[in-house]
Amino acid sequence: MSSESSVTKRLDGKVALITGGASGLGECTARLFVKHGAKVLIADIQDDLGHSLCQDLGPENISYVQCDVTCESDVENAVNMVVSKYGKLDIMFNNAGIIGDNEVRVTDTSTDNFKRVFDINVLGGFLGAKHAARVMVPAKKGCILFTSSLSSKISYGNPHAYKASKHAVTGLTKSLSVELGEHGIRVNCISPHATATPLFQKTLGLFDKKKGEEMIAVSAVLKGTVLEPEDFANAALYLASDEAKYVSGVNLPIDGGYCLSNQSWKLGFAALFSINQQVLCFTFSIMFLNKEN
Ligand SMILES: NC(=O)c1ccc[n+]([C@@H]2O[C@H](COP(=O)([O-])OP(=O)(O)OC[C@H]3O[C@@H](n4cnc5c(N)ncnc54)[C@H](O)[C@@H]3O)[C@@H](O)[C@H]2O)c1
Repeated sequence: MSSESSVTKRLDGKVALITGGASGLGECTARLFVKHGAKVLIADIQDDLGHSLCQDLGPENISYVQCDVTCESDVENAVNMVVSKYGKLDIMFNNAGIIGDNEVRVTDTSTDNFKRVFDINVLGGFLGAKHAARVMVPAKKGCILFTSSLSSKISYGNPHAYKASKHAVTGLTKSLSVELGEHGIRVNCISPHATATPLFQKTLGLFDKKKGEEMIAVSAVLKGTVLEPEDFANAALYLASDEAKYVSGVNLPIDGGYCLSNQSWKLGFAALFSINQQVLCFTFSIMFLNKEN
């Protein structure tokens, strides 16, 4: 191996399990992890996408298992499979998630939808962490990651079930990082802003990726660039690598500073400006009328 490839392969020798790895952010992360030398098992319910990703990246580097993260025996099986296939588990990435019904009013939110979102986003992540810890604790090391969301930091019109579930994911991250630290296990989560993945496009009913990216760019704080799945995957790569060996309990925003800005302040200014304009127009018209008379 050349010295260049050993320097650039930041996950050489590591083994990762990624839930929701057949599509979107998880798929992009799986591709990057393999590129950086990791052996990856993706656990998802979209079998065709999972298998075609394995074909694309080479079955010697990546494999697929059907796994519904809400089903404990599926998650247990996925963790057992990664260990029997690759000998260990270094990185457990609980990334699978759904937004659920696109209803933002509490009175119209169905209880079944609320439970479904929590089952996948929270219980699914909990089960992943539980079974990962089962094999990581005896190994006295490991890295557990979750995909949270900017919705865990600010409120920007997402459904309550989704927002609350992502707050729970962030809480679970903090709670686990404290308990598992004594076993050398780091636990972090990543909170991306909107990214034009299938989940995002389905939510908005937008099937043109470019239009989705344009919409995100208009409201972005950081201009001149657009958030892409690769930016998220790079954050996961950092947190999963030994470069982050002392980083634990963090909810890392990938949002170009969006969560620090209050966009409604601009609306207030715009409203004030238009009120001022109206006052000026009114004053000028009074002056004009007085002059005429
Ligand atoms: N795209 C965004 O704008 C955005 C923003 C913030 C957070 N996120 C989060 O990123 C994560 C990935 O979302 P994405 O945008 O890549 O969407 P996506 O729909 O492309 O990918 C989600 C994956 O999770 C899988 N999945 C769903 N339910 C599952 C289950 N029960 N068991 C196993 N796998 C299941 C899906 O099959 C899919 O492959 C989610 O947790 C989501 O909440 C996305």
